[in-house]
Amino acid sequence: MRITVLTGGATSERAVAFASASQIVAALRGGARKHQVQVVDLAGDVLDEAAERELLGGAVGLTPPSVDALVERERRMLSEGLAELEPVRNAEVLFLAVHGGPLEGGTLQAVLDVIGVPYTGSGPLASALAMDKDLSKRLFRAAGVPVPAWFMAPVGSDDVSTGLGWPVIVKPSKQGSSVGLTLVKKAQDLDNAIKLAERYDDEVMAEQFIPGRELTVGVLGDMPLPVGEIVSKHELFDYVTKYTPGMSDETFPAKLDTLLARQLQEYALMAHRALKLSGYSRIDFRVSSEGDIFCLEANSLPGMTRTSLFPQAAQAAGIPFAELCERIASLARNNRAGRGG
Ligand SMILES: Nc1ncnc2c1ncn2[C@@H]1O[C@H](COP(=O)(O)OP(=O)(O)O)[C@@H](O)[C@H]1O
Ligand SMILES: [Mg+2]
Repeated sequence: MRITVLTGGATSERAVAFASASQIVAALRGGARKHQVQVVDLAGDVLDEAAERELLGGAVGLTPPSVDALVERERRMLSEGLAELEPVRNAEVLFLAVHGGPLEGGTLQAVLDVIGVPYTGSGPLASALAMDKDLSKRLFRAAGVPVPAWFMAPVGSDDVSTGLGWPVIVKPSKQGSSVGLTLVKKAQDLDNAIKLAERYDDEVMAEQFIPGRELTVGVLGDMPLPVGEIVSKHELFDYVTKYTPGMSDETFPAKLDTLLARQLQEYALMAHRALKLSGYSRIDFRVSSEGDIFCLEANSLPGMTRTSLFPQAAQAAGIPFAELCERIASLARNNRAGRGG
């Protein structure tokens, strides 16, 4: 297949995107079928060999990179540049190795629908819903998937005391990688946590904190993958624990009661369908010590390095990384009509 990997962009998850792209490119080029692969930085250009070595070679740093200088470049790329690029127009599939902001949240997907080349993952509507934690939880709840209680800001400490109880998690509604997220244990810290989250999104939520186990379920096509458990060195699965090797222990399949594991897989599939996601997704859960399940969010473009959660889940289902990348690309090609693009 002629596959062009779209990556980078002007989001706080730019470095994470390059890390995913680097491994996807290597797997697709190196697999048994030796696909023709090119790479485009959505806040740059088509990458030549030197640029590939530079941008795809690094590790994810401890803090999100500053991308202010790249915003204008990304805007031009989405509004006109992308459609003109030969590796985009001539690709059989565009493989999206992007995370965060308008690239994961539906804007890129809408532009690609206009250009008319198939791309991996979900369409614009599902992508936007998954990016919005407020709307996605309303849809999960309506579909029968349990979620923690939450209020959207403005919210005062009295509302929290009566409606949610302490502690709460304060987070931007439309962010990822735990950026701007705080665990608030007492009333006097609430306002500062909301101010911090507002730096990343004008919509902020305070959500009931669920102590307990952290679990995640990948969905590939129509199939839930084995449940994974994350045990983080920090209290929360934050940016540092997500991207520093050794800061979290991840077990696939998780050591769980069979019924609980099956229930999580069923909820994951229900959540995937509730948002009309397609191709693949990863659904995050917490399970309380009483065994109650709470769905936190859906990721429409989960991290795709070899050691990321979704590829680990696929591996546990007997699907090696190169085959996973191929299946995601094939789903994109076959799914186009179904997505209405
Ligand atoms: N309500 C909650 N209860 C307990 N932990 C939470 C809650 N919300 C978020 N977290 C912690 O923060 C992490 C990131 O939150 P999440 O909602 O998945 O957003 P994102 O991954 O998009 O930043 C979770 O993996 C979990 O460790
Ligand atoms: Mg998450």
